[in-house]
Amino acid sequence: MPVIGYGTFDMTPESIRAAIVDCGYRHLDTASYYNNEEMIGQVLQDVFKTTSIKRSDMFITTKVWNHEKENIQKSLRESLARLRLDYVDLYLIHWPVQYSGFKVDCTPIKLPLHKQWPQMEECQRLGLTRSIGVSNFNFQLINDLLTYAEIRPVANQIEISPYLSQFNLIEWMKKEGIVPIAFCPLGGRSAKNEKENFLFDEVLVKIAANYGCTTAQVVLAWGRQRGHVSLPKSSDPTRMRQNIESLKVQLTEEEIQEVNGLNKNRRTVPAFRIPGLGYYPIFE
Ligand code: A2P
Repeated sequence: MPVIGYGTFDMTPESIRAAIVDCGYRHLDTASYYNNEEMIGQVLQDVFKTTSIKRSDMFITTKVWNHEKENIQKSLRESLARLRLDYVDLYLIHWPVQYSGFKVDCTPIKLPLHKQWPQMEECQRLGLTRSIGVSNFNFQLINDLLTYAEIRPVANQIEISPYLSQFNLIEWMKKEGIVPIAFCPLGGRSAKNEKENFLFDEVLVKIAANYGCTTAQVVLAWGRQRGHVSLPKSSDPTRMRQNIESLKVQLTEEEIQEVNGLNKNRRTVPAFRIPGLGYYPIFE
């Protein structure tokens, strides 16, 4: 799995194409919920037709949304049809909540995780996905899943950043051989907020000056060196390129420890919204 992926939520077809063709991203992250799989399918077809980039060069992840979990194989086949692909590289359970919908309908669904996971395993056995994993799962949930999984989850996609380093969960996942994948690695919607975001933190500004690079590149290099994959989103060609070029930045052990010291357990996605009930806080 390429350690820097391109997060596609809210991104345009032009940005996604530029990320792949101009900047060299080979890892795309989407989800049924993002409502962009069809558009990504068109971009990929165009890239495969007009460049030398092949399907096998790409690592593509999508996720099953809550209301689709009663028949996961059907949901994945629908995602594949929209993406115009025969398989994805990674298929994730998007959220560990048993609610049918999100925006309008929030009927609870009586389908425990131990009945969802065998459906995920079947998708892998059928070759519809190369690997399976989870997203937004905490230690307790993964730990329970490992008691019955015949195929173990290869990854857990969660929010990770210098202000939310998720130290315990990540160290445990690494021991279990489960890859931590970071969404909102640059602080998501708060990325441009000088008062809140770590991209303006003086510790990161100081480390960036050592390398003549940007704080975003320091954050992504820190992630790579401590062993998590990052999915930065950018619609700006310069920043898009800058993010993948973080692969060239190599921090010292001391600098990694300095970034580790910035943790504030601060999330940009702090809660799961259940219509009619409000926001339900997420705990590590
Ligand atoms: P933009 O699209 O204008 O580049 P995340 O990846 O954590 O979800 O954060 C996405 C936000 O971070 C977007 O607002 C994006 O803005 C901004 N961003 C992406 N790359 C960088 C960068 N290298 N430096 C500063 N901000 C960035």
